[in-house]
Amino acid sequence: MIDRFVGRITRQVRALALPIAAVLIGGLVADRAAAAKPEVFGKTKDGQVVHRFTLQNRKGVVARLITRGATLTELHVPDKRGKTADVVLGFDTVAGYESKDNQYFGCTVGRVCNRIAKGRFTLNGKTYQLALNDGPNHLHGGVERSWDKVVWKGRYVKTKHGPGVRFEYTSPDGEEGYPGTVRATVVYALNDENELRIDFMAETDAPTPVNMTNHSYFNLQGAGAPTVLDHVLTIDADYYTPTDETLIPTGEIAPVDGTPLDFRKPHRIGERIESLIKSPSLGYDHNFVLNGQPGNLRFAARLHDPRSGRTLEVLTTQPGLQFYSGNFLFGQKGKGGKTYAKHSAVCLETQHFPDSPNHPEFPSIILKPGQRYHEVCVYRFRAE
Ligand code: GAL
Repeated sequence: MIDRFVGRITRQVRALALPIAAVLIGGLVADRAAAAKPEVFGKTKDGQVVHRFTLQNRKGVVARLITRGATLTELHVPDKRGKTADVVLGFDTVAGYESKDNQYFGCTVGRVCNRIAKGRFTLNGKTYQLALNDGPNHLHGGVERSWDKVVWKGRYVKTKHGPGVRFEYTSPDGEEGYPGTVRATVVYALNDENELRIDFMAETDAPTPVNMTNHSYFNLQGAGAPTVLDHVLTIDADYYTPTDETLIPTGEIAPVDGTPLDFRKPHRIGERIESLIKSPSLGYDHNFVLNGQPGNLRFAARLHDPRSGRTLEVLTTQPGLQFYSGNFLFGQKGKGGKTYAKHSAVCLETQHFPDSPNHPEFPSIILKPGQRYHEVCVYRFRAE
Protein backbone atom coordinates (compact mmCIF):
# COMPACT_ATOMS: atom_id res chain seq x y z
CA MET A 1 0.00 0.00 0.00
CA ILE A 2 2.72 2.43 1.10
CA ASP A 3 4.88 1.16 -1.78
CA ARG A 4 2.09 1.90 -4.25
CA PHE A 5 1.63 5.36 -2.76
CA VAL A 6 5.38 6.10 -2.89
CA GLY A 7 5.50 4.77 -6.47
CA ARG A 8 2.67 7.08 -7.51
CA ILE A 9 4.29 10.10 -5.87
CA THR A 10 7.64 9.28 -7.54
CA ARG A 11 5.93 9.04 -10.94
CA GLN A 12 4.13 12.35 -10.35
CA VAL A 13 7.34 14.06 -9.25
CA ARG A 14 9.10 12.67 -12.33
CA ALA A 15 6.25 13.84 -14.58
CA LEU A 16 6.50 17.33 -13.11
CA ALA A 17 10.29 17.46 -12.96
CA LEU A 18 10.82 17.86 -16.69
CA PRO A 19 8.44 20.77 -17.30
CA ILE A 20 9.65 22.50 -14.11
CA ALA A 21 13.28 22.05 -15.16
CA ALA A 22 12.40 23.33 -18.64
CA VAL A 23 10.74 26.44 -17.19
CA LEU A 24 13.69 27.05 -14.84
CA ILE A 25 16.29 26.56 -17.55
CA GLY A 26 14.17 28.61 -19.98
CA GLY A 27 14.02 31.39 -17.39
CA LEU A 28 17.74 31.20 -16.80
CA VAL A 29 18.48 31.34 -20.52
CA ALA A 30 16.11 34.28 -20.97
CA ASP A 31 17.64 36.04 -17.93
CA ARG A 32 21.07 35.38 -19.34
CA ALA A 33 19.92 36.85 -22.65
CA ALA A 34 18.60 39.91 -20.81
CA ALA A 35 21.88 40.21 -18.89
CA ALA A 36 24.14 39.47 -21.90
CA LYS A 37 26.47 42.17 -23.09
CA PRO A 38 26.45 43.45 -26.65
CA GLU A 39 29.65 43.40 -28.69
CA VAL A 40 31.49 46.49 -29.84
CA PHE A 41 30.70 47.13 -33.52
CA GLY A 42 32.98 50.15 -33.87
CA LYS A 43 33.27 53.85 -33.17
CA THR A 44 31.68 56.90 -34.73
CA LYS A 45 33.84 59.68 -36.22
CA ASP A 46 33.39 61.63 -32.98
CA GLY A 47 34.54 58.69 -30.87
CA GLN A 48 31.27 57.20 -29.60
CA VAL A 49 31.23 53.43 -29.19
CA VAL A 50 28.60 51.66 -31.29
CA HIS A 51 27.37 48.33 -29.89
CA ARG A 52 25.94 45.37 -31.76
CA PHE A 53 23.25 42.92 -30.61
CA THR A 54 22.29 39.53 -32.02
CA LEU A 55 18.86 37.86 -31.84
CA GLN A 56 18.45 34.29 -32.98
CA ASN A 57 15.44 31.96 -33.07
CA ARG A 58 14.99 28.18 -33.32
CA LYS A 59 14.18 28.34 -37.06
CA GLY A 60 17.57 29.71 -38.10
CA VAL A 61 16.58 33.39 -38.31
CA VAL A 62 19.32 35.74 -37.08
CA ALA A 63 18.87 39.51 -36.68
CA ARG A 64 21.69 41.93 -35.89
CA LEU A 65 21.15 45.46 -34.62
CA ILE A 66 23.41 48.37 -33.78
CA THR A 67 23.00 51.35 -31.49
CA ARG A 68 23.73 53.90 -34.23
CA GLY A 69 20.30 54.77 -35.52
CA ALA A 70 18.76 51.76 -33.67
CA THR A 71 19.55 50.05 -36.97
CA LEU A 72 18.80 46.55 -38.26
CA THR A 73 22.09 45.61 -39.96
CA GLU A 74 21.55 41.93 -40.82
CA LEU A 75 18.56 39.63 -41.15
CA HIS A 76 19.35 36.04 -42.10
CA VAL A 77 16.30 34.10 -43.26
CA PRO A 78 15.96 30.52 -44.62
CA ASP A 79 14.75 29.86 -48.20
CA LYS A 80 12.50 26.98 -49.29
CA ARG A 81 15.47 24.56 -49.04
CA GLY A 82 16.48 25.82 -45.60
CA LYS A 83 19.47 27.81 -46.89
CA THR A 84 19.77 31.18 -45.17
CA ALA A 85 20.63 34.52 -46.75
CA ASP A 86 20.94 38.01 -45.34
CA VAL A 87 17.97 39.82 -46.90
CA VAL A 88 18.63 43.43 -45.81
CA LEU A 89 21.07 46.02 -47.14
CA GLY A 90 23.74 47.45 -44.86
CA PHE A 91 27.43 47.96 -44.18
CA ASP A 92 30.15 46.08 -42.32
CA THR A 93 31.47 49.14 -40.48
CA VAL A 94 30.33 52.26 -38.67
CA ALA A 95 32.20 54.26 -41.31
CA GLY A 96 29.95 52.66 -43.94
CA TYR A 97 26.86 53.78 -42.05
CA GLU A 98 28.35 57.28 -41.66
CA SER A 99 29.20 57.56 -45.37
CA LYS A 100 27.23 59.19 -48.18
CA ASP A 101 26.53 55.67 -49.49
CA ASN A 102 24.13 55.11 -46.62
CA GLN A 103 20.59 55.88 -47.75
CA TYR A 104 18.98 55.19 -44.36
CA PHE A 105 19.75 51.44 -44.57
CA GLY A 106 17.87 49.56 -41.82
CA CYS A 107 17.67 52.53 -39.47
CA THR A 108 14.97 53.99 -37.27
CA VAL A 109 13.80 57.21 -38.91
CA GLY A 110 12.65 60.11 -36.72
CA ARG A 111 11.60 62.46 -35.27
CA VAL A 112 9.50 62.72 -38.44
CA CYS A 113 10.08 60.31 -41.30
CA ASN A 114 9.32 61.18 -44.94
CA ARG A 115 8.88 64.76 -46.18
CA ILE A 116 7.70 68.04 -44.68
CA ALA A 117 6.96 70.63 -47.37
CA LYS A 118 9.51 73.46 -47.41
CA GLY A 119 10.62 72.15 -43.98
CA ARG A 120 7.96 74.29 -42.37
CA PHE A 121 4.97 73.70 -40.12
CA THR A 122 2.88 75.70 -37.67
CA LEU A 123 1.93 74.41 -34.26
CA ASN A 124 -0.15 76.36 -31.71
CA GLY A 125 0.40 79.57 -33.70
CA LYS A 126 4.19 79.24 -33.92
CA THR A 127 5.97 78.43 -37.19
CA TYR A 128 8.95 76.10 -37.13
CA GLN A 129 11.61 76.02 -39.87
CA LEU A 130 13.51 72.76 -40.30
CA ALA A 131 16.52 71.91 -42.48
CA LEU A 132 15.89 71.56 -46.23
CA ASN A 133 17.76 68.38 -47.11
CA ASP A 134 15.67 67.07 -50.02
CA GLY A 135 15.39 69.78 -52.68
CA PRO A 136 12.94 72.32 -51.28
CA ASN A 137 11.77 69.96 -48.51
CA HIS A 138 12.75 68.42 -45.19
CA LEU A 139 13.36 64.64 -45.23
CA HIS A 140 13.63 61.96 -42.54
CA GLY A 141 14.16 64.18 -39.48
CA GLY A 142 17.02 66.39 -40.61
CA VAL A 143 20.73 66.53 -41.25
CA GLU A 144 23.12 66.13 -38.29
CA ARG A 145 21.02 64.76 -35.43
CA SER A 146 18.17 62.91 -37.10
CA TRP A 147 17.43 59.66 -35.23
CA ASP A 148 19.12 57.46 -37.83
CA LYS A 149 22.44 59.21 -37.11
CA VAL A 150 22.53 59.40 -33.31
CA VAL A 151 23.80 56.63 -31.04
CA TRP A 152 20.97 55.15 -28.97
CA LYS A 153 21.30 53.34 -25.64
CA GLY A 154 20.70 49.62 -26.15
CA ARG A 155 20.24 46.52 -24.02
CA TYR A 156 18.98 42.98 -24.36
CA VAL A 157 15.48 42.49 -22.90
CA LYS A 158 12.87 39.78 -22.49
CA THR A 159 9.57 40.70 -24.14
CA LYS A 160 6.15 39.08 -24.54
CA HIS A 161 7.12 38.60 -28.16
CA GLY A 162 10.43 36.83 -27.60
CA PRO A 163 13.98 37.86 -26.76
CA GLY A 164 14.58 41.44 -27.78
CA VAL A 165 16.71 44.54 -27.84
CA ARG A 166 15.49 47.83 -26.40
CA PHE A 167 16.88 51.11 -27.73
CA GLU A 168 16.33 54.47 -26.05
CA TYR A 169 17.14 57.98 -27.13
CA THR A 170 16.25 61.35 -25.62
CA SER A 171 15.95 64.01 -28.29
CA PRO A 172 16.33 67.46 -26.70
CA ASP A 173 14.02 70.42 -27.25
CA GLY A 174 15.06 72.23 -30.43
CA GLU A 175 17.04 69.33 -31.89
CA GLU A 176 16.91 69.59 -35.69
CA GLY A 177 14.49 72.51 -35.14
CA TYR A 178 11.68 70.45 -33.56
CA PRO A 179 9.98 71.63 -30.35
CA GLY A 180 9.88 69.58 -27.15
CA THR A 181 12.12 66.99 -25.54
CA VAL A 182 11.09 63.55 -26.79
CA ARG A 183 11.96 60.27 -25.11
CA ALA A 184 11.92 57.66 -27.85
CA THR A 185 12.09 53.88 -27.45
CA VAL A 186 12.36 51.18 -30.10
CA VAL A 187 12.10 47.50 -29.15
CA TYR A 188 12.95 44.75 -31.64
CA ALA A 189 11.86 41.20 -30.69
CA LEU A 190 12.30 37.94 -32.58
CA ASN A 191 10.05 34.93 -31.96
CA ASP A 192 10.06 31.34 -33.22
CA GLU A 193 7.25 32.17 -35.68
CA ASN A 194 9.92 34.02 -37.69
CA GLU A 195 8.43 37.38 -36.76
CA LEU A 196 10.68 40.34 -36.13
CA ARG A 197 8.42 42.76 -34.27
CA ILE A 198 9.32 46.43 -33.84
CA ASP A 199 7.54 48.56 -31.23
CA PHE A 200 8.05 52.31 -31.58
CA MET A 201 7.24 54.42 -28.51
CA ALA A 202 7.64 58.08 -27.61
CA GLU A 203 6.70 60.68 -25.00
CA THR A 204 7.17 64.43 -25.08
CA ASP A 205 7.15 67.43 -22.73
CA ALA A 206 5.71 69.82 -25.37
CA PRO A 207 3.53 69.29 -28.46
CA THR A 208 5.63 68.07 -31.40
CA PRO A 209 5.20 66.00 -34.55
CA VAL A 210 6.40 62.37 -34.26
CA ASN A 211 6.37 59.83 -37.10
CA MET A 212 8.73 56.90 -36.71
CA THR A 213 9.51 54.07 -39.12
CA ASN A 214 12.05 51.38 -39.84
CA HIS A 215 13.88 51.90 -43.13
CA SER A 216 15.07 48.38 -44.01
CA TYR A 217 15.80 47.65 -47.66
CA PHE A 218 14.83 44.07 -48.61
CA ASN A 219 15.94 41.78 -51.38
CA LEU A 220 14.58 38.32 -50.61
CA GLN A 221 17.24 36.66 -52.79
CA GLY A 222 19.81 38.21 -50.49
CA ALA A 223 21.20 41.74 -50.23
CA GLY A 224 23.32 42.43 -53.31
CA ALA A 225 21.21 40.35 -55.73
CA PRO A 226 20.87 42.46 -58.88
CA THR A 227 17.18 43.32 -58.89
CA VAL A 228 13.96 43.27 -56.94
CA LEU A 229 11.78 43.90 -60.00
CA ASP A 230 11.01 40.17 -60.19
CA HIS A 231 9.62 40.08 -56.64
CA VAL A 232 5.85 39.83 -56.38
CA LEU A 233 4.13 42.42 -54.19
CA THR A 234 0.71 42.72 -52.60
CA ILE A 235 -0.39 45.84 -50.71
CA ASP A 236 -3.69 45.99 -48.85
CA ALA A 237 -4.62 49.53 -49.89
CA ASP A 238 -7.51 50.85 -51.98
CA TYR A 239 -6.17 54.43 -51.91
CA TYR A 240 -2.90 56.36 -52.04
CA THR A 241 -1.82 59.97 -51.55
CA PRO A 242 -0.84 61.55 -54.92
CA THR A 243 2.10 63.97 -54.78
CA ASP A 244 3.52 66.99 -56.60
CA GLU A 245 6.84 66.80 -58.46
CA THR A 246 8.77 67.16 -55.16
CA LEU A 247 6.89 64.18 -53.66
CA ILE A 248 4.74 66.30 -51.33
CA PRO A 249 1.11 65.08 -51.10
CA THR A 250 -1.42 67.26 -52.89
CA GLY A 251 -3.95 66.38 -50.15
CA GLU A 252 -6.02 64.19 -52.42
CA ILE A 253 -6.81 60.61 -51.38
CA ALA A 254 -7.06 58.83 -54.74
CA PRO A 255 -8.12 55.29 -55.63
CA VAL A 256 -5.34 52.92 -56.77
CA ASP A 257 -7.86 51.34 -59.14
CA GLY A 258 -6.64 51.45 -62.75
CA THR A 259 -3.13 52.72 -61.80
CA PRO A 260 0.26 50.95 -61.50
CA LEU A 261 -0.24 51.37 -57.74
CA ASP A 262 -2.98 48.77 -57.60
CA PHE A 263 -1.30 45.92 -55.69
CA ARG A 264 -4.50 44.60 -54.15
CA LYS A 265 -3.81 41.47 -56.20
CA PRO A 266 -0.16 40.32 -56.42
CA HIS A 267 1.94 41.92 -59.20
CA ARG A 268 5.61 41.73 -60.13
CA ILE A 269 7.21 45.01 -59.10
CA GLY A 270 8.71 45.44 -62.57
CA GLU A 271 5.46 44.79 -64.42
CA ARG A 272 4.15 48.37 -64.46
CA ILE A 273 7.11 50.41 -63.21
CA GLU A 274 8.21 51.92 -66.58
CA SER A 275 5.79 54.87 -66.62
CA LEU A 276 6.74 55.65 -63.02
CA ILE A 277 10.47 55.58 -63.76
CA LYS A 278 9.79 58.45 -66.20
CA SER A 279 7.83 60.37 -63.54
CA PRO A 280 9.27 62.59 -60.74
CA SER A 281 9.24 59.65 -58.31
CA LEU A 282 11.67 57.70 -60.61
CA GLY A 283 9.86 54.46 -59.76
CA TYR A 284 7.66 53.47 -56.83
CA ASP A 285 7.96 56.01 -54.01
CA HIS A 286 4.37 56.40 -52.85
CA ASN A 287 2.37 56.45 -49.67
CA PHE A 288 -0.44 53.91 -49.60
CA VAL A 289 -3.48 54.43 -47.38
CA LEU A 290 -3.73 51.02 -45.73
CA ASN A 291 -7.14 49.38 -45.44
CA GLY A 292 -8.48 48.56 -41.99
CA GLN A 293 -8.45 50.45 -38.76
CA PRO A 294 -5.24 52.32 -37.83
CA GLY A 295 -4.24 51.34 -34.30
CA ASN A 296 -5.04 47.67 -34.99
CA LEU A 297 -2.15 45.42 -35.91
CA ARG A 298 -3.20 44.21 -39.36
CA PHE A 299 -1.84 42.90 -42.65
CA ALA A 300 -0.26 45.62 -44.81
CA ALA A 301 1.88 44.01 -47.52
CA ARG A 302 3.37 40.78 -48.79
CA LEU A 303 6.62 40.51 -50.77
CA HIS A 304 7.44 37.19 -52.42
CA ASP A 305 10.53 36.04 -54.27
CA PRO A 306 9.59 33.09 -56.51
CA ARG A 307 13.21 31.97 -56.89
CA SER A 308 14.13 31.49 -53.22
CA GLY A 309 10.54 30.97 -52.11
CA ARG A 310 11.02 33.52 -49.34
CA THR A 311 7.97 35.59 -48.40
CA LEU A 312 7.94 38.66 -46.20
CA GLU A 313 4.67 39.82 -44.68
CA VAL A 314 4.43 43.26 -43.16
CA LEU A 315 1.86 43.98 -40.45
CA THR A 316 1.32 47.33 -38.80
CA THR A 317 -0.81 49.54 -36.60
CA GLN A 318 0.03 52.56 -38.79
CA PRO A 319 -2.33 54.22 -41.30
CA GLY A 320 0.17 54.31 -44.18
CA LEU A 321 2.91 52.46 -46.02
CA GLN A 322 5.60 54.12 -48.13
CA PHE A 323 6.57 51.67 -50.87
CA TYR A 324 9.96 52.74 -52.23
CA SER A 325 11.63 50.71 -54.99
CA GLY A 326 15.26 51.68 -54.31
CA ASN A 327 15.25 54.34 -57.06
CA PHE A 328 18.26 56.21 -55.68
CA LEU A 329 20.48 53.17 -55.09
CA PHE A 330 23.48 53.75 -57.36
CA GLY A 331 25.76 50.72 -57.10
CA GLN A 332 27.34 51.57 -53.76
CA LYS A 333 29.27 48.76 -52.07
CA GLY A 334 27.72 47.23 -48.97
CA LYS A 335 28.26 44.25 -46.69
CA GLY A 336 30.88 41.79 -47.95
CA GLY A 337 31.70 44.09 -50.90
CA LYS A 338 28.33 43.41 -52.56
CA THR A 339 26.96 46.03 -54.94
CA TYR A 340 23.57 47.64 -54.36
CA ALA A 341 22.24 48.51 -57.82
CA LYS A 342 19.26 50.73 -58.61
CA HIS A 343 16.00 48.82 -57.96
CA SER A 344 17.86 46.01 -56.20
CA ALA A 345 15.90 46.41 -52.96
CA VAL A 346 12.62 47.76 -51.64
CA CYS A 347 11.53 49.55 -48.50
CA LEU A 348 8.07 48.94 -47.08
CA GLU A 349 7.97 51.72 -44.51
CA THR A 350 4.97 51.66 -42.20
CA GLN A 351 4.20 55.22 -41.14
CA HIS A 352 1.78 58.14 -41.01
CA PHE A 353 1.29 60.06 -44.24
CA PRO A 354 4.04 62.36 -45.57
CA ASP A 355 3.80 66.06 -44.69
CA SER A 356 1.07 65.33 -42.14
CA PRO A 357 1.71 68.54 -40.10
CA ASN A 358 0.60 70.56 -43.15
CA HIS A 359 -2.46 68.41 -43.91
CA PRO A 360 -5.14 68.72 -41.22
CA GLU A 361 -7.23 66.27 -43.28
CA PHE A 362 -4.64 63.49 -42.66
CA PRO A 363 -4.45 61.55 -39.36
CA SER A 364 -2.53 63.79 -36.95
CA ILE A 365 1.07 63.12 -35.94
CA ILE A 366 1.14 65.71 -33.16
CA LEU A 367 2.16 64.13 -29.87
CA LYS A 368 1.18 66.04 -26.74
CA PRO A 369 2.52 65.85 -23.17
CA GLY A 370 0.77 63.07 -21.28
CA GLN A 371 0.11 61.06 -24.46
CA ARG A 372 2.01 57.93 -25.35
CA TYR A 373 3.01 57.30 -28.98
CA HIS A 374 3.03 53.57 -29.73
CA GLU A 375 3.11 52.03 -33.21
CA VAL A 376 4.05 48.51 -34.27
CA CYS A 377 5.59 46.99 -37.39
CA VAL A 378 6.06 43.23 -37.81
CA TYR A 379 8.24 41.64 -40.49
CA ARG A 380 7.11 37.98 -40.73
CA PHE A 381 8.97 35.47 -42.91
CA ARG A 382 8.19 32.11 -44.42
CA ALA A 383 9.51 30.09 -47.34
CA GLU A 384 7.48 28.01 -49.79
C1 GAL B 1 12.58 56.89 -48.79
C2 GAL B 1 11.97 58.03 -49.56
C3 GAL B 1 12.75 58.18 -50.83
C4 GAL B 1 14.22 58.40 -50.54
C5 GAL B 1 14.73 57.30 -49.63
C6 GAL B 1 16.13 57.52 -49.17
O1 GAL B 1 11.91 56.72 -47.57
O2 GAL B 1 10.61 57.77 -49.81
O3 GAL B 1 12.24 59.25 -51.59
O4 GAL B 1 14.40 59.64 -49.96
O5 GAL B 1 13.93 57.19 -48.49
O6 GAL B 1 17.04 57.54 -50.21
